[in-house]
Amino acid sequence: MNKEFEGRVAIVTGAGVGLGRAHALGLAARGAKVVVNDLGVATDGSVAGSDAAHDVVQEIRASGGHAIANGADVTSRSQTRAMVDEAIAEFGHVDILVNNAGILRDKTFSKMDLDDFWTVVDVHLMGSVNCTKAVWSHMIAREYGRIVMTTSGSGVYGNFGQSNYGAAKAGVVGLMNVLAQEGAKKNVRVNTLAPTAATRMTEDLLPEEVLALLKPETITPGLLALVLEDAPTKMILGAGGGCFAETRITETRGVALADDDISLEGVLAAMDRIRNPEGAVEMANAFTQTQKYLKQAADLRGLTLPGAT
Ligand SMILES: NC(=O)c1ccc[n+]([C@@H]2O[C@H](COP(=O)([O-])OP(=O)(O)OC[C@H]3O[C@@H](n4cnc5c(N)ncnc54)[C@H](O)[C@@H]3O)[C@@H](O)[C@H]2O)c1
Repeated sequence: MNKEFEGRVAIVTGAGVGLGRAHALGLAARGAKVVVNDLGVATDGSVAGSDAAHDVVQEIRASGGHAIANGADVTSRSQTRAMVDEAIAEFGHVDILVNNAGILRDKTFSKMDLDDFWTVVDVHLMGSVNCTKAVWSHMIAREYGRIVMTTSGSGVYGNFGQSNYGAAKAGVVGLMNVLAQEGAKKNVRVNTLAPTAATRMTEDLLPEEVLALLKPETITPGLLALVLEDAPTKMILGAGGGCFAETRITETRGVALADDDISLEGVLAAMDRIRNPEGAVEMANAFTQTQKYLKQAADLRGLTLPGAT
């Protein structure tokens, strides 16, 4: 097996079981030194005190790799800072961060306790923020960093009964969108993985023969592609059962309404054109969208905007 990650140090959160474990083993197999983080909790986040991270470390070491276990809770700023300090003390630096740790507390929004909403947002969104913040200036200073967020089909498309999880998982996409731009000049690239896998998180949801197709190991090659030296940035990679696809957020061409048509009636009359997907494009950033509207509005009125050619 090629050692693309030789000399690289990776932190993978929630790596004691499931997808994180597969990612940690995959990175180690290709030469990375790995910090196997896991708090060892049950799927709902209640503390079960599992020792799974140590088992993964043993597995990596038994194959000749380098790894240490770390028990930081990703919701803790001080513990995630200490995790990064520990990684640097042990391995010298950090090149890769995989924000993978997660929990579920599904309920319809009517029945959702707001504490459960907050806890899920705290683990997925703030957990990713804490770990990323803990390593960010180190990566910026070294002009090298590869960070992956883990979203979900629930975060990009929605899923019944997962308002807390869907909101948190959409949040990490927003985090990636901004950090990919802020890190670009310093060679810090930020991507998002949208997996669907057979893990303890999903074991009750699907029949066994379906789960057999969705092994976590079928996702990890996609994760590896997102943290390579020549990785893309700002990509959302969907992955499951060895299938891979890119999720894109696009905007339709839309319409520019004349002054007299800027009304509810005008919008309703134009709705088919507003929603027409033909010619839809991605926006490089929020200002690109503003510029698009300004240009359309100015063109309609025969105006030339300052700075426009
Ligand atoms: N399994 C799927 O189909 C699927 C689909 C979409 C997204 N995801 C996402 O992929 C990631 C991994 O999911 P999985 O299915 O492997 O789940 P899993 O339950 O098998 O593993 C999650 C791991 O995260 C750890 N963890 C939870 N809270 C933590 C905390 N506060 N600090 C540190 N570690 C913590 C747990 O101890 C556990 O080992 C999650 O972010 C999940 O939301 C999974």
